[in-house]
Amino acid sequence: MSNEDDHPAGIEAISVYVPQNFIEATEVAAANGTDPEKYTRGLGCRRMAIASPGEDAVTYGCEAARLLLERYQSDASAIGLLVVGTESGVDGSKPVAAYLHGMLGLDCRCRVFDTKHACYSATAALRIATDWCRGHDGRRGKALVVATDIARYDLGSPGEPTQGAAAVAMLVGNDAACMQLEHFPEAVYAQEVMDFWRPNYRHTAVVDGKVSLRTYLTALENTWDEYQRSSGLQWHDYEYLLFHVPFPRMAWKAFRLLHERYGNGESPEDAFSRMVEPGLWACRELGNCYSGSLYLCLAALLERVGQRATGARVGLFSYGSGCCAEFFTARIGSSSGIWHDRIGIGNGLRRRRQIDYSTYLEFRQITERMEGNHECQAGLASDADAAVTFCGTREHRRLYRFQAPTAGAESTQRRNSVNAQVANVLR
Ligand code: CAA
Repeated sequence: MSNEDDHPAGIEAISVYVPQNFIEATEVAAANGTDPEKYTRGLGCRRMAIASPGEDAVTYGCEAARLLLERYQSDASAIGLLVVGTESGVDGSKPVAAYLHGMLGLDCRCRVFDTKHACYSATAALRIATDWCRGHDGRRGKALVVATDIARYDLGSPGEPTQGAAAVAMLVGNDAACMQLEHFPEAVYAQEVMDFWRPNYRHTAVVDGKVSLRTYLTALENTWDEYQRSSGLQWHDYEYLLFHVPFPRMAWKAFRLLHERYGNGESPEDAFSRMVEPGLWACRELGNCYSGSLYLCLAALLERVGQRATGARVGLFSYGSGCCAEFFTARIGSSSGIWHDRIGIGNGLRRRRQIDYSTYLEFRQITERMEGNHECQAGLASDADAAVTFCGTREHRRLYRFQAPTAGAESTQRRNSVNAQVANVLR
């Protein structure tokens, strides 16, 4: 099947919001009485982003989208579709996308909804957005895809060192200067399985670790085989491979499985450094950001290799527990170099701060109290430059306070009126 496409739909721009707080994996190991090497070498975890009590999937998603629209000087009125991929939703009914629609001041004719399938949700969102763009070339012909998540596991559990958080925003359109998606027949693998889930009554995920690793690798094998069969591509056609990264060592396990079967003479370590590492460095700093993990790798790859890699083919493996997985390919666009310093990972990492174990515990406790309480509590000041902070809940309504301009045209007026409402209920 031909790859040529008159409308190279795909990602026009990408931006990452890096949470302001992080903790060292070794500090968590010390508190758990675990050999730190298990976390750093065995799992490949170095640091994890930690959400403060004023932050949630809405504030992170808003930051990523706001930064995207600002950095690329995109017009919010051009957006006709907003899809948010998340498994950290704040309401059983109201989507995160609805909050973002208001905060960003998007057009009332813009369609908005969330997708949910664990870490696969952003890939589902990207697929929907790309297909939608092909049929919408007009004035509101751009789609905004946001992946936003906070990964939380029980204290002292095997998953705890793999926690993390971040949001990735992608502008999708028919002028895919950044990443063009290739249109080979899709390679999807789905199976009902209890490998990782979060019941509605819990703040933290439940995992059957061994089953999750096995299912991830089975899904990879199946989707890889299917994709190579239908596309005719072979190992040497790929410059880069990106995986969903629940913890960095998982990317090695995934790569090794493929390399053993298809790799040429190059050693697996050298091939991994060349093909996978350029996209992996941000995951070592931020931890697992669930739906955004694969796209964090993509953003990290673009930030690292920039224009030097124009035309390079990237293979992407998306995995969502439960499970649904997909393998697909994209090519780095000709103007990816200009995005290089606007993606925001390096800058975000430079301005964040380290927290100690007792602050980490305090953040968790306050967050749980705020999430479980139907009465309003003032949120702690989070990121001083953040546009929006979660303040608590009153009469079953979540309250957000705007601190800095959001992107939309009517945003100043709207911000003032929302802040006045928040001030009233906080009084
Ligand atoms: N020094 C160095 N290495 C050590 C060590 C030490 N002292 N102690 C152990 N290790 C190594 C082990 O040998 C092992 O390496 P290999 O896998 O290469 O053999 C590694 O460290 C991990 O050790 P364990 O297997 O004993 O770890 P565990 O069972 O306690 O926990 C885990 C591992 C199950 C992945 C756990 O971190 C977890 O539950 N994570 C969350 C679930 C997850 O990430 N699943 C991945 C697939 S599902 C998915 O991708 C969706 C998603 O985002 C969650």
